[in-house]
Amino acid sequence: MKERMNIVIVGHVDHGKSTLIGRLLADTNSLPIGKLEQVKRTCELNSKPFEYAFLLDALVDEQAQGITIDTARVFFKTSKREYIIIDAPGHIEFLKNMISGAARAEAAILLIDAHEGIAENSKRHAYMLSLLGIKQIAVAINKMDLVNYSESKFNEIKNDYVVFLKEIGIEPIAFVPISARNGFNLIEHSNNMTWYKGKTILELIDSFEKEKGDEEKNFRMFVQGVYKFTENGDNRRIIAGTINSGTINVGDEIIFLPSNKKSTVKTIEIYGKESPLFASVEQAIGLTLTTQVYVKPGDLICRTDQQLPFTTNRFKANIFWMGKNLLSIHKKYKLKIGTNKAGLNIEKIITVMNASNLESTINREEVHRNEVAQIIFKTDKPISFDLFNQIKTTGRFVIVDEYDIAGGGIIVEALEEEEKPAKVDYSEFEKELYQLIKKYFPHWEIKPIF
Ligand code: GTP
Ligand code: MG
Repeated sequence: MKERMNIVIVGHVDHGKSTLIGRLLADTNSLPIGKLEQVKRTCELNSKPFEYAFLLDALVDEQAQGITIDTARVFFKTSKREYIIIDAPGHIEFLKNMISGAARAEAAILLIDAHEGIAENSKRHAYMLSLLGIKQIAVAINKMDLVNYSESKFNEIKNDYVVFLKEIGIEPIAFVPISARNGFNLIEHSNNMTWYKGKTILELIDSFEKEKGDEEKNFRMFVQGVYKFTENGDNRRIIAGTINSGTINVGDEIIFLPSNKKSTVKTIEIYGKESPLFASVEQAIGLTLTTQVYVKPGDLICRTDQQLPFTTNRFKANIFWMGKNLLSIHKKYKLKIGTNKAGLNIEKIITVMNASNLESTINREEVHRNEVAQIIFKTDKPISFDLFNQIKTTGRFVIVDEYDIAGGGIIVEALEEEEKPAKVDYSEFEKELYQLIKKYFPHWEIKPIF
């Protein structure tokens, strides 16, 4: 099997993201046979100019008929590996998908229109990539045909953008001048830009390195559901989920957090397959256990022979707010981390930053749409998580305002749990009471529950 890699294409509206993808598909012969001609013919019939971006729409139509492609993700392969390219039409959808884990990107191409230059979303998108910890980033400066393939224009944009990117901790691996519409510097070098000696887009994505290491990390899996076998009086329970990181083996002792219940893996089940002896990151599995424990969706399963995550009700996080309403210190929200949910309160907004001009302010009580903030949060019950820089999928969360995902964040620090009022132990008192009842009302049929 060939290696697969997920790449997201981001950039300001109309800077040419869909054109780049359409052209890459066409020039690498990744389209269904006859598709290009068909779309060109339809354009002719409707007397509108052909656009490579239409190819993506045409593929969506096919998806509606049950074929494999959707706008968000297109597939193509090079001699090196297979790619899933994610088109990011609006940055809000893109961020929602990325942060909830619906779309995974290992690398990104940031597209800038050479004629229009660096726009608001060129910056915001870059910020989101840095927030999401996507480190492999290449910048394509598109529509070079509109600036006469000028090297100095290219350098001007590059130099400005590098300064911005540095401030947010991104060091792009390359800047490529392209014309997506004309297919220049995508697959082959263009004669119009002989001054450019670097890689083409295709060479560049083949040079992205596959992110490694999630398999070697500590085992984590959120419980998605608990099911019961029903056949022949079988009363086993199966605990289902998708592995966030690490590996699990039959015989491993596991712990459910935050409830601290322990058991041992008896079998690993994979739908439609023979039960394997071990499973690894990204696999959807079911576990049966040697002892029955009562667990719920949202619990985080870990291995007791490995380092455990944090469990607390306070943490510091960097968030991106995209809600219609303000994020207010006085309002209550819901947090979703993996399959776990909890009520969410804001203890303190530390700083707020405008993601496109990087101006920051302190002492604010609210965060506006498109702003980034560092916040101390408090959940209404302890939750288990990792820091984002250790395990991404258990270190990021979304904030739900009413019923909408209105923000996303990454956890940067676990904070000490707030002191709870000491628990009063009634058990001695209850025992005494029971003795008294037995003494004075011997005919009462009661049983102690302690
Ligand atoms: P949204 O999805 O709306 O954010 O836009 P997008 O970034 O996907 O842009 P799209 O690919 O739809 O291209 C926008 C316009 O730019 C289209 O009319 C393209 O034909 C045009 N365009 C794309 N690449 C080039 C190029 O290299 N040169 C010129 N001159 N125009 C281009
Ligand atoms: Mg588009």
